[in-house]
Amino acid sequence: MSASVAQRVAEAADLVTVALDALLPRADGPEQRLTEAMRYAALGPGKRLRPFFALETARMFDLEERPVLRAACALECIHAYSLVHDDLPALDDDDLRRGRLTVHKAYDEATAVLTGDALQSAAFEIMAHPDTHSDGAVRSELVRKLAVASGARGMAGGQMIDLLGVTDDLGAVARMQRMKTGALIACAFELPLILAHASEAERQPLMAFAQDLGLAYQIVDDLLDVEGDDDLLGKAAGGKDAARGKVNYVTLLGVEQANERVALLAHQARAHLEIWGERGKILRDSVDFVLDRRN
Ligand code: IPE
Ligand code: IPE
Ligand code: MG
Ligand code: MG
Ligand code: MG
Repeated sequence: MSASVAQRVAEAADLVTVALDALLPRADGPEQRLTEAMRYAALGPGKRLRPFFALETARMFDLEERPVLRAACALECIHAYSLVHDDLPALDDDDLRRGRLTVHKAYDEATAVLTGDALQSAAFEIMAHPDTHSDGAVRSELVRKLAVASGARGMAGGQMIDLLGVTDDLGAVARMQRMKTGALIACAFELPLILAHASEAERQPLMAFAQDLGLAYQIVDDLLDVEGDDDLLGKAAGGKDAARGKVNYVTLLGVEQANERVALLAHQARAHLEIWGERGKILRDSVDFVLDRRN
């Protein structure tokens, strides 16, 4: 019998947290304040879903663990940086993250800005290191994918659109969500696909799966902002997105229709992976696990 999704997510979380602890810098001088804040942000109790997706995709291709684990750590550093900056007063102005004070509250704003900067640099340092892969061309492709996913055409660009909140058009909202959240989730699948030298026929269903899952993931996050419990979530809910003028599926369609979208995307995502048979089972089963979350 295959391991349950919950077990696999927990295993991936442990693996990546231990690896990140070893990879993140420590310092003795006054810059210790920065390395401590980086550790506070990256090693805190996150769900590590992006590393889980990367490790499970690698498993489908029987890849060796070390390269994908390092790539997953790099991706998680980018994700952690995105959260540190997302919480800043200039962006979402949040005090709580993962059940603890946000970095700018636990330290200060300047430290939080630098923490995001340095986590981003750490991500590329880890990815570009020869320990990630012996072939420089493969490393360069991994670096490029992560850069595209996190930059102006991906996460950072999506964050810009989110802050402008300019649109009441569902298509434009979908594009914003795919950029700000979908791009890093899709990257979790892309990185092992690069390591596997996957064919287009192997890539396509996994990328289609990632696209649907990534969009559904952000809609669930937006639903939790309305319906979630602060204590379980570890961050403030209570409809703060609408209060701040954010535009998303929930503000545009309402809770009921947003839930219907999630169910449709979940169904579609699983269907993309039918072609992978038994090998795709954990990822297919992970859809409900990931979308039924309360935290
Ligand atoms: C939160 O991401 C921000 C979104 C992109 C929705 P996660 O829900 O993956 O947060 P952690 O890493 O588990 O804290
Ligand atoms: C997260 O969107 C987007 C990022 C790229 C960090 P949110 O702003 O909705 O995420 P939470 O709710 O603060 O985790
Ligand atoms: Mg935000
Ligand atoms: Mg936020
Ligand atoms: Mg949110």
